[in-house]
Amino acid sequence: MDTSNKVYNLAVLISGNGSNLQSIIDSTKTNTLNNAVIKIVISNKHDAYGLKRAEENNIKTLFMNPVNYDNDLKYDKEIVNTLIKEKIDLVILAGYLKIITEPLLKHYNKRILNIHPSLLPKFGGAKMYGINVHKSVIKSKEKYSGCTVHIVTKDIDCGPILAQEKVNVLDDDTPETLAKRILNYEHNLYPKTIKQYLCTLYEE
Ligand code: GRF
Repeated sequence: MDTSNKVYNLAVLISGNGSNLQSIIDSTKTNTLNNAVIKIVISNKHDAYGLKRAEENNIKTLFMNPVNYDNDLKYDKEIVNTLIKEKIDLVILAGYLKIITEPLLKHYNKRILNIHPSLLPKFGGAKMYGINVHKSVIKSKEKYSGCTVHIVTKDIDCGPILAQEKVNVLDDDTPETLAKRILNYEHNLYPKTIKQYLCTLYEE
């Protein structure tokens, strides 16, 4: 099958600011990620700024309130139903702070990606999110940190690594300055890794 002009459907799951979402939106309009389109952005938080970013770019948004579901499995089943309707090829977690459970993991096996703001396997796991990651890196006096794009599996931050970018930790870094610097690298790494992965998944 000739897939050279194929455009793949992405869903992006967020909980907050959505600066990675923004970089993915921007990249779909350039060579960096011109083989993908974002069909839907889903948030578990009604006030996630990323929802506004999506709306401004005429991307469909959906706020799914966890309190309306008996449990996480039912919540994720509903996500799967939505993703199937949208014919989603790849699910992108971009600052999504909810654990992914079996229905979603099973249906989108090897088709869910995440970005994490450290050099995994270092500084990953359940409590390692947001500023906690960078606080731990500085406390451990690491010389380097960075960011990692990986495939999502049932074990948090443990799935196969697709790409990493190394970033120096400076002597005068605070968790906030380090977070900001790494975030800039994330914005570059995530879209280009998504493009490569889509080719690996569907075109080999
Ligand atoms: C990023 O640091 C990402 O690595 C982590 O959550 C943060 C999300 O930031 N998973 P944003 O919402 O994309 O600005």
